Amino acid sequence: MWDYTDKVMDHFHNPRNVGKIDNPDGVGHVGSLACGDALTLMFKLDAEGRIADAKFQTFGCASAIASSSALTEMVKGKTVTEAEKVTNQQIADFLGGLPEQKMHCSVMGREALEAAIHNYRTGEEGVVSLHDDHDRVVCQCFGVSESEILRVTRENGLTSVEQVTNYCKAGGACGKCRDDIELLVKRVIEERRPTASAAAKPLTNLQKIRLVQEVIDREVRPLLQRDGGDLELVDVDGDRVVIAFRGLCAGCASASVTRHEVVQAKLREFVASTLVVVEEDKP
Ligand code: FES
Repeated sequence: MWDYTDKVMDHFHNPRNVGKIDNPDGVGHVGSLACGDALTLMFKLDAEGRIADAKFQTFGCASAIASSSALTEMVKGKTVTEAEKVTNQQIADFLGGLPEQKMHCSVMGREALEAAIHNYRTGEEGVVSLHDDHDRVVCQCFGVSESEILRVTRENGLTSVEQVTNYCKAGGACGKCRDDIELLVKRVIEERRPTASAAAKPLTNLQKIRLVQEVIDREVRPLLQRDGGDLELVDVDGDRVVIAFRGLCAGCASASVTRHEVVQAKLREFVASTLVVVEEDKP
């Protein structure tokens, strides 16, 4: 049994906005029954160009239903431009988090919304490919392309093939594509490293503080927030980085492990190998 939040269970047992809209302005279909998950999302705009109604039909597990339900609630009242900025992490956050193995449900929701917006803008119908003709299908079992894998890896700070499987299913069946996925993950990890010329120059204190904050926001906080935790950067003094855990991380028995194995490890990987992370003194 998955460890779902109360909000996931609520949206699963009482899904909002299930069904169809007559004459929708945009319709998107993603997934397939053969792959175990399929989602159709549609929306209708009001006179001001805001999403007045959004509905969905899905075939999938509890988290697929909850993610779709959450997404329809999230986009109502938004313009199309605002709605297209919704990320899969925001869908998961709206639900109080999803088990990592179920993050692909939030990705499917985001892709269905993009397909519906694409349909609204271009009139193209059916299962819409959001990628250009040169995009290579890496995972034949789930029909996942190179650009989809790169995108999900970049947007969610992923670092392993297993995580990619959790987020978009690629690699989760016969496994023939796993070597290819590993190369793509390595490519994204390389992109995240400071360039050689940037690394050669010592950082000013202001640059170091900015980079530490950027790495915390990109690499660390999304991981903690998935489990209801968070952290705040308190100070950077030379190589000493002072942090404060928030949410469920505050007072957690594993906080010192998280500080050392996650926060310090990421900052050493992306900022400087000499950094030491400590927690702020508690009053
Ligand atoms: S080709 Fe990707 S799991 Fe089979």
